[in-house]
Amino acid sequence: MTDTSSVCRRLVGRTAVVTGAGSGIGLATVRRLAAEGAHVVCADVDEERGKAAAEEAAGLFVRTDVTDAAEVDALFKAAHDTYGSVDIAFNNAGISPPDDDSILDTGLEAWKRVQEVNLTSVYLCCKAAIPYMRAQGKGSIINTASFVARMGAATSQISYTASKGGVLAMSRELGVQFARDGIRVNALCPGPVNTPLLQELFAKDPERAARRLIHIPVGRFAEPTEIAAAVAFLASDDSSFVNATDFLVDGGIAGAYVTPV
Ligand SMILES: NC(=O)c1ccc[n+]([C@@H]2O[C@H](COP(=O)([O-])OP(=O)(O)OC[C@H]3O[C@@H](n4cnc5c(N)ncnc54)[C@H](O)[C@@H]3O)[C@@H](O)[C@H]2O)c1
Repeated sequence: MTDTSSVCRRLVGRTAVVTGAGSGIGLATVRRLAAEGAHVVCADVDEERGKAAAEEAAGLFVRTDVTDAAEVDALFKAAHDTYGSVDIAFNNAGISPPDDDSILDTGLEAWKRVQEVNLTSVYLCCKAAIPYMRAQGKGSIINTASFVARMGAATSQISYTASKGGVLAMSRELGVQFARDGIRVNALCPGPVNTPLLQELFAKDPERAARRLIHIPVGRFAEPTEIAAAVAFLASDDSSFVNATDFLVDGGIAGAYVTPV
């Protein structure tokens, strides 16, 4: 776990846009990027939480629905107008609603809503960020996918999984296409993370938690700070040769056959 008081300062003067900044992985990343010296632009539909995150990071809050093209364009413009560059885009906002379940039970409305928030949003954010980065000749884009983009689950959330597969393939393609413009694009693939959503779900249903924990070699869920540390690495020049990857931060889940007892 990372104590941000002792982190290095790899991002001094860089401008980072973080979507889904008000909670969970986004919030931990806002704190980490600010601790490393970045100007952080916090985007969220939740005005109260997004503002609180920006205040904590002494950054800028832009209320943004990431499914709205005009709002996403305005977000990246605000970042550029305020700080003079767009160096890092952490396209992270996402949802995992209960009506997205087995393909047999998931309706078209739920399917489309999840695709819009999890996948179309990443398309819109990359489309808005890349022109600024091309003009600068550098930039790092980190799109939040998931380990479920790589592995199948019998406990299905079909649209979520398909959306994250899309994020992974899109990130790879953009990383290849824009590599010679100095832009790196990576998909971040976290394993299950100890966020309020997950805690609430598993507190109500310990069997459900146990069914998942058995597959994790390290025997616990990730903390948001551990995911934020990976984002900071991908955002920084320390990862200058890391591009177009499915960057797993999963405690070994994707590598496991039999786990320790
Ligand atoms: N928590 C996990 O176990 C886990 C694992 C792998 C991947 N992920 C992914 O990580 C990302 C963040 O997840 P989290 O657990 O921190 O979730 P979270 O629910 O704690 O935070 C998500 C944030 O996104 C915001 N948001 C939702 N819809 C939005 C929209 N249309 N426009 C702007 N903001 C919006 C919410 O208001 C919230 O602040 C998601 O993409 C999620 O799929 C999470």
